[in-house]
Amino acid sequence: MSWFVTFEGPEGAGKTTQCQLLAARLEEHGVPVLLTREPGGTPVGEAVREWLLAGVSMRPETEVLLFTAARAEHVWTVIRPALANGRFVVCDRYVDSTLAYQGAGRGLDEKWLRALHQFATGDLWPDLTILLDVPIEIGLGRRRAADAPLTRLDQEVASFHERVRAWYHAAAQREPARWLVVDATMPVEAVADVVWQAVERLLARGRRGK
Ligand code: TYD
Repeated sequence: MSWFVTFEGPEGAGKTTQCQLLAARLEEHGVPVLLTREPGGTPVGEAVREWLLAGVSMRPETEVLLFTAARAEHVWTVIRPALANGRFVVCDRYVDSTLAYQGAGRGLDEKWLRALHQFATGDLWPDLTILLDVPIEIGLGRRRAADAPLTRLDQEVASFHERVRAWYHAAAQREPARWLVVDATMPVEAVADVVWQAVERLLARGRRGK
């Protein structure tokens, strides 16, 4: 039953809500779930998250090493053990965020980011990645309307967010077997239903390969 599903997308796409809805639906079906997020999910990860999302300025190289350090801790102490225990892992952002934000957004070479991922996680990739797609202006508008303060990354210029979104589209086209693209401008319940159909197909496949 152990599967690894990640949610990705630009700011304000509704990932957190959809992660929670999916986890609840899996539990209703008797599937043991671990719901987690990045950056975060461990004490080290939550501490690093504070630095990354607050206003502290840093080099792109520093930024990617911090996101990846948090991920190493998360994968080896939380995600891999959960998968080994037969849990269905739902993670709000993962390595594709690094490739999109630090790669396409900041302009770091994707080749190094992939090598870093291999080193940090033993090359753990999700079975299914759900791209909640939303136009930049709609997503950032939702973000501004929400109560939470804007993060350092939310405040990046529009062209940064456009590069991030374009990377997601290209990735989903390159690897259609792993990605599901969902129009996140639809009502919350409609998005949740499309996600659930894809997860049911995954569950029907039996066990994950790796
Ligand atoms: P968060 O408040 O969790 O935003 P969201 O609800 O959009 O996920 O902040 C996470 C931010 O960190 C988000 O702007 C994306 C960014 N990020 C990266 O730049 N690289 C990464 O590897 C990860 C995991 C997140």
